[in-house]
Amino acid sequence: MAERVAIILAAGISKRMNTELPKVLHEVCGRPMLAYVLDACREVGIEKMYVVVGFGNEQIKERFNKAEDIVWIQQKEQKGTAHAVLCCKEYLEDFQGQTLVLCGDGPLIRASTLKTLIQKHEEGQPAATLATAILDEPAGYGRIIRDENGNIKAIVEDSDCTNRQLKINEVNPSYYLFNNKLLFDAVQNIKPDNVKKELYLTDAVAHIIETGHKVLAVTAVRTDEARGVNSRVQLTEANKIMQRRIQQKLMDNGVTIVDPDNTWIDIRAEIGQDTVIEPFTYIHGEVKIGKGCRIGPFAYLRHGTVLGDDVVLGVFAEVKNSTFADGVRARHHSYIGDATVGRHVNIGAGSTTANFDGENINRTNIGDDCYIGSGVVLIAPIELKAGSRISAGKIVSQESIDKSKTERLKGKRQDVSK
Ligand code: UD1
Ligand code: CA
Repeated sequence: MAERVAIILAAGISKRMNTELPKVLHEVCGRPMLAYVLDACREVGIEKMYVVVGFGNEQIKERFNKAEDIVWIQQKEQKGTAHAVLCCKEYLEDFQGQTLVLCGDGPLIRASTLKTLIQKHEEGQPAATLATAILDEPAGYGRIIRDENGNIKAIVEDSDCTNRQLKINEVNPSYYLFNNKLLFDAVQNIKPDNVKKELYLTDAVAHIIETGHKVLAVTAVRTDEARGVNSRVQLTEANKIMQRRIQQKLMDNGVTIVDPDNTWIDIRAEIGQDTVIEPFTYIHGEVKIGKGCRIGPFAYLRHGTVLGDDVVLGVFAEVKNSTFADGVRARHHSYIGDATVGRHVNIGAGSTTANFDGENINRTNIGDDCYIGSGVVLIAPIELKAGSRISAGKIVSQESIDKSKTERLKGKRQDVSK
């Protein structure tokens, strides 16, 4: 099998996004766009990715600083996608294998499509293989120009298309696999002969064909995967598509999502079988939900939340960075932050943890089988022993618990909250 590396283009300034944050760091369902592209490469066995960065490079490197399979390549001036590839020359000029070239602004990429691309390339042994897509609305994308036999001749960018070419529905989603040597031969010879005066990687196709080699274009990219992100509107569209995929997978795994259009679930969330997600639930960050839970409507689960089995979170329940054991109930209007909640605890309507004292975030520990009435405020740091009962409307601190304990020992009081 041929040795394979990937070049991922992520240096663009992204004028159309109108952003100070590098485009590839904008998130799709909780992860930066670039993370999806890197993962798709890893899934097809690529062990080294050359990521070309320029605008905002420090921020991008920082965000991915734990990845050991990335070689960062600097493109000082953004002269176009072919120039971005050329920036890798120093590292890859003598590499004998195959080079996958992808864009960092294509988060909808699927590893299965890359597998098809690799397979077709292995079968046909051309100089380059690209995966194409058919779009009802191809505006903005490079168009695939084929000859009378259906073989690819060139890719023409939208801004350079004739009126006739603009009607072509087959587009370039920017998934290419090249014979590395021929790729570098091509990019060194590309000229900025186009409206934008940039060095286009898309011109490598015509160049390779003109120098007597074969290029294969396989229509292998589904519509919902072909879209790149150049603007905020496209970012929203990509989020919608990714959200549908996330929900589909969860439903296949036995989760009921009552109203998918009005539910938002982060890609990092894990949800157990027979859990029901009611409408207007928003799950953000690394969140784990056990089996047989009922979440929502209007629940907000934030980063670091871990719920056991059979937990019920109802309307306007917000949970952050907290662990709930099995059978906890918080049915109405609660905020539980930085807490550990034991088995079968009932949290009454409108009860909250006061987890921030203005300086520090403090933890709340609630033992098993506690009953917390409605409208209770637990001032953290605080620990409620298993089986504690707090009656409605109480404001409870560790101090008040300790005090009542002392008094109880003296035979005065029964209820910790009184
Ligand atoms: C590009 C393709 C187009 C394709 C579309 C798919 C070219 C010339 N055009 O167009 O055929 O249909 O993607 O989404 O390749 N970049 C650099 N350095 C540069 C310029 C760009 O690293 O000098 C990076 C960008 O950060 C981006 C990627 O390359 O991640 C693509 O560039 P972009 O300007 O978004 O190209 P498109 O117009 O979308
Ligand atoms: Ca793009």
